Amino acid sequence: MIKQAKTKHNVHELIRNRWSARSFSDKEITQDELETIFEAAGWTFSAMNYQPWRYIYAHQKDKVYFQKMVDCLSGGNKPWAKDASVIIMALAKKNYDNGTTNISALHDLGAANATLILQATAMNIYGHLMGGYDKEKAIELFDIDADEFEPVVFIALGYLDLPEKLIEPFKTREVTPRTRKDVSEFTKEFTSDNKESFFRE
Ligand SMILES: Cc1cc2nc3c(=O)[nH]c(=O)nc-3n(C[C@H](O)[C@H](O)[C@H](O)COP(=O)(O)O)c2cc1C
Repeated sequence: MIKQAKTKHNVHELIRNRWSARSFSDKEITQDELETIFEAAGWTFSAMNYQPWRYIYAHQKDKVYFQKMVDCLSGGNKPWAKDASVIIMALAKKNYDNGTTNISALHDLGAANATLILQATAMNIYGHLMGGYDKEKAIELFDIDADEFEPVVFIALGYLDLPEKLIEPFKTREVTPRTRKDVSEFTKEFTSDNKESFFRE
């Protein structure tokens, strides 16, 4: 409960309950559960319904490819992500079929990742996104056509375990309450008699 978002308004509990966990249990995510999570991601909106998200993944039980996933991660992520049940690499397909750049690709991948994580949350599975990784290594180890596909972020998925399982500083982070900007800091209503500037410092 310490991680549950404290909201002023009646925000949906699925959103309040999601947080980026690091302590993962031995319980495996089944292939069926994982496909449910991916199917949810696939129902995300996208520019031209082009669906530029791509996911490469390995279950922990596949020692070879799971280890390759872990090898891509930075030193701050390896110590806890190695205990995830599944590690996913999320990639964006950079261009449309006619070769023009899809300027919405990163936006749409991010949206799909949010949908993926919320579906996981609804299944009591925790996800943790990781931008700390070696992109060149990811491209090499997974033989990615980097002209067409861009690795963007890794995602660790697993069932939750106790914070005590972690080493510091991760143990403390696992029990530190989450904080957010107030809504007034990132929204501004425009009205006819409101002459204030928009996010100009
Ligand atoms: C694109 C992206 C990259 C991130 N990279 C890392 C990372 O490399 N390591 C890590 O521990 N957390 C990483 N995070 C998790 C954020 O730190 C986390 O979402 C943020 O602190 C808010 O916490 P919450 O998700 O529990 O609400 C990343 C999140 C995103 C969206």
